[in-house]
Amino acid sequence: MAEGRIAVIGTGYVGLTSGTCLAHLGHEVVCGDVDPDKVERMSRGEVPIFEDGLQELMTEGIESGRLTFVHGAEKAAEGAKYIFLCLPTPDGGDGRADLRIVHQVVAEIGPLLDPGAVLVTKSTVPVGTAKQITATLARDDVAVVSNPEFLQEGTAVKNFMNPDRVVVGSDDRAAAEAVAKLYDGLTTSSGKPVTMLITSAESSELIKYASNAFLAMKLSFINSIAGLAEVVGADVHEIAGGMGLDDRIGPKFLRAGPGWGGSCFPKDTKALAAIALDYSVPFPLLDATTIANEQAQERVTDRIREAAGGDLAGVPIALWGLTFKAGTDDLRDSPALEVALRLDTERAQLRGYDPTVKADLPPKNGYPAVPVAADPYAAAEGARVVVLLTEWPEFADIDIARVAQVAPGAVIVDARNLLDAQQVLDAGLRLVPLGRKG
Ligand code: UGA
Repeated sequence: MAEGRIAVIGTGYVGLTSGTCLAHLGHEVVCGDVDPDKVERMSRGEVPIFEDGLQELMTEGIESGRLTFVHGAEKAAEGAKYIFLCLPTPDGGDGRADLRIVHQVVAEIGPLLDPGAVLVTKSTVPVGTAKQITATLARDDVAVVSNPEFLQEGTAVKNFMNPDRVVVGSDDRAAAEAVAKLYDGLTTSSGKPVTMLITSAESSELIKYASNAFLAMKLSFINSIAGLAEVVGADVHEIAGGMGLDDRIGPKFLRAGPGWGGSCFPKDTKALAAIALDYSVPFPLLDATTIANEQAQERVTDRIREAAGGDLAGVPIALWGLTFKAGTDDLRDSPALEVALRLDTERAQLRGYDPTVKADLPPKNGYPAVPVAADPYAAAEGARVVVLLTEWPEFADIDIARVAQVAPGAVIVDARNLLDAQQVLDAGLRLVPLGRKG
C-alpha cells in the first residue's frame, strides 16, 4: 500500500466513486465537500447518487474506518499525501470550461499542503491547467499530476475497478509513478493487468477530451447514418453490426438514439472545440459533431410530428425515459429533455415516466416542465404518440397490449429501437423505429 493518506476534494459522482474505490483498494481516504448536509448524510453511509454497487463499497469503507467525510477542502487536504481534485468544471457559457472552482480550491489548500504532497487533477480540465496550477501554487515541494477519469455514470464502480487504462501525466516522473501505483492490482474487464500510461501533463489532459469527443463523434456518425438508412430503406442496426465487425472500428458506441447527452460529452466536445480555436487549430469535426447531435434530436422530433399527423399543438404525448441514458438518475443535458423542449415549443401536451424520476419536473435549465406519471402505462394513458427516449431495460418488457388499452390507436416512436416490432403490431399499434423501416 502506498504511504500517505489520500484526500478527495469534491464528492460528485467522480469524487465519491473514486474515493470509495480507492478506500476499497486499501487506501486511507478522506473526502471533503462544501455541502455540510451532504457530508453528514455520506458519513452515515447514505449514497447521494444513483450508482450501481457504490452503496456496498461505501458501507465497507466507512465500517473499516478507511473512508471518512469532512466539511471543506482544507480539512480533507491537511496532512494528505495525495490530493485528488474532483471538482465541477462547467461550461463557462462560451463553451470553455469554467475553472474558477478548481483555482479557488487550489488557492485555499495550497499553503497548507505538506512538503512532498501530490496534487492530482481528476476533473476534466483544459490543456495547460496542470502548468497553471503549478504556477499558482508556487511551491517547489508539491507536485502537480493530471490523472483523468474515464468513468461512465451507472457503471462507474465497475469502470474504476476494471479500467481499460490509467493515464497519469506530469513533468514530475516520480510523482506520476507514485499516483499510478495507487491503482496497483487493478485488472481490465477481461482480467488482464491494466496499462498504466505515463505521459506529459498536456497529453494526459488532452487524452481525456480527445476520448470523449471521439466517442461523441462516433455516436453522431451512427446517428447521421440512421437518418440516411431511414431514407434509403436500410437498417442502422445491420449497418452498425457490419461496421463493428471491423476490429479497427469496434462494435461499441454505435447504438443509434435520440442524440447523446449527459454532463460530459456536450460540455467536453464544446470545450475541445474552444481549445482548438484558442490555439488557432482548425478542427471542424468537433463543431460538426455537435451539429449532427442537434440534427439527431430534430429527426426524432420530426418522426413524432409525423406520427401526430403533422401538427403537435395540443397532442398528448407520453415520454418514456427522461434521464440522459439508462442506469442513472441524471437529467443533465438529457436528449430526452432536448426532445421534450422541441415538443413543448410546438405546444404538445407532455407526460413523462422514468424509473428514477418520482416527481413532476419543474422548468429548469431551459427545459420545460414535464408532469411525471407513476408508471409507463399511466404516462401513456390517452396519448396519441408514445416516445421511447431512454433505453431502460423495463421498456423492452413492456406489456404492449396494456398500452393499446390505455392509448388505443397510439403510435409508438421508439428512439432507442428497444421494442419488438411484431409485438407492437400484434397489439394493434403502429411502431416507428429509428434508422430502419417500421
Ligand atoms: C462519458 C464517457 O463515456 C466516460 O468515459 C467519461 O469518463 C465520462 O463521459 C466523463 O467524462 O465523466 P457518461 O457521460 O456517463 O460517460 O455517458 P456515456 O455512457 O458515455 O453515454 C453518453 C451518451 O451517449 C448518453 O446520452 C447515451 O445514451 C449515448 N449513447 C451511448 C448512445 O446514444 N449510443 C451508444 O451506443 C452509447
